[in-house]
Amino acid sequence: MKIGVLTSGGDAPGMNAAIRAVVRKALYHGCQVYGIKRGFSGLLTGEIVPLDSRAVSDILQKGGTILQSARCPEFKTPEGQAKAKAQLEKLGLNGLVIVGGDGSFRGARVLNQMGFLTVGIPGTIDNDIGCTDYSIGFDTAVNTVLDAMNKIRDTASSHNRVYVVEVMGKNSGFIAVAAGLTGGAEAILIPENPVNLDDICKIILTNAKLGKAHSIVLVAEGYYEDPISAQQSSGFRVGKYLAEKTGCDTRITILGHLQRGGTPTFFDRKLATLLGNKAVELLLDNETEKMVGIINNRIQVFPLEKALTTKKTISKQELELAGIMSSI
Ligand code: ADP
Ligand code: F6P
Repeated sequence: MKIGVLTSGGDAPGMNAAIRAVVRKALYHGCQVYGIKRGFSGLLTGEIVPLDSRAVSDILQKGGTILQSARCPEFKTPEGQAKAKAQLEKLGLNGLVIVGGDGSFRGARVLNQMGFLTVGIPGTIDNDIGCTDYSIGFDTAVNTVLDAMNKIRDTASSHNRVYVVEVMGKNSGFIAVAAGLTGGAEAILIPENPVNLDDICKIILTNAKLGKAHSIVLVAEGYYEDPISAQQSSGFRVGKYLAEKTGCDTRITILGHLQRGGTPTFFDRKLATLLGNKAVELLLDNETEKMVGIINNRIQVFPLEKALTTKKTISKQELELAGIMSSI
């Protein structure tokens, strides 16, 4: 079997571990393996390179993706899809592993409709993919936010300031809830749970009266939809409102793409290795249009369509618990 692997959408720490697992597992079973560069773009342009075992040496610990990633709108067009099909047929590739988010899985579905065996591996720091408790990169991103919160809390407590910290997540709040609960945020603002900002002001002022003069308010970037510019980012808009309404000395930190880098954690490396291994096993069994995921710490397989139509929900319990834990 000739297997291709590509990484697509926003890169995530652990994607290299997944690439390594796919390559080593496929080679172990006598397959030829090809790396497709820059997501679906490399399919269109024929940037497809054979990978041997050495090609994936010393990448397990590296963030990012050696195959690079890209957003490729052209692959949403029939012309682009025809180019991709021709490239794959020219090389005789018959199995494909797509590492990415839900958008990338829609691309995988198209490849499957073209007759290529496809298996998706959830890889996005947003962790917003259905049918899996975790996507590759989420754990590392949350730990990056926790490290930033620790550093910010040092200066916030030294100046008795309110810090609004904006985190990634596209239109979801998974990073914000996970980091808020385990980083002790005084408030967590996510698109799934819009709140009255005056209630947040009350929390800040009550804390100040009780002697807790510094606060960290975590804001998911998608709290306000479609910010037109960084000046109107969700974090900026919340920070401006809180500063004006409370009169507290307030600063705003937008963590941005820091959350996409860094060496993957043990959890992400293990998750990526197990998912890459399972993805190749499925291709070897001629399975297709599947996604591999982890549920209750067990690797499981789901139809890609189910993963695309299953909306992953925020844990309201965790959100409420975060509020209880930060109350004084
Ligand atoms: P993510 O995988 O992180 O959600 P995107 O939504 O940007 O990232 O999707 C990544 C790529 O997947 C797109 O740039 C495009 O090449 C491909 N893709 C997304 N949606 C489709 C679709 N409906 N049909 C074909 N390809 C798609
Ligand atoms: O999907 C991952 C992600 O990091 C989102 O959290 C964020 O909104 C988006 O990618 C940023 O996209 P880009 O890297 O293209 O700016």
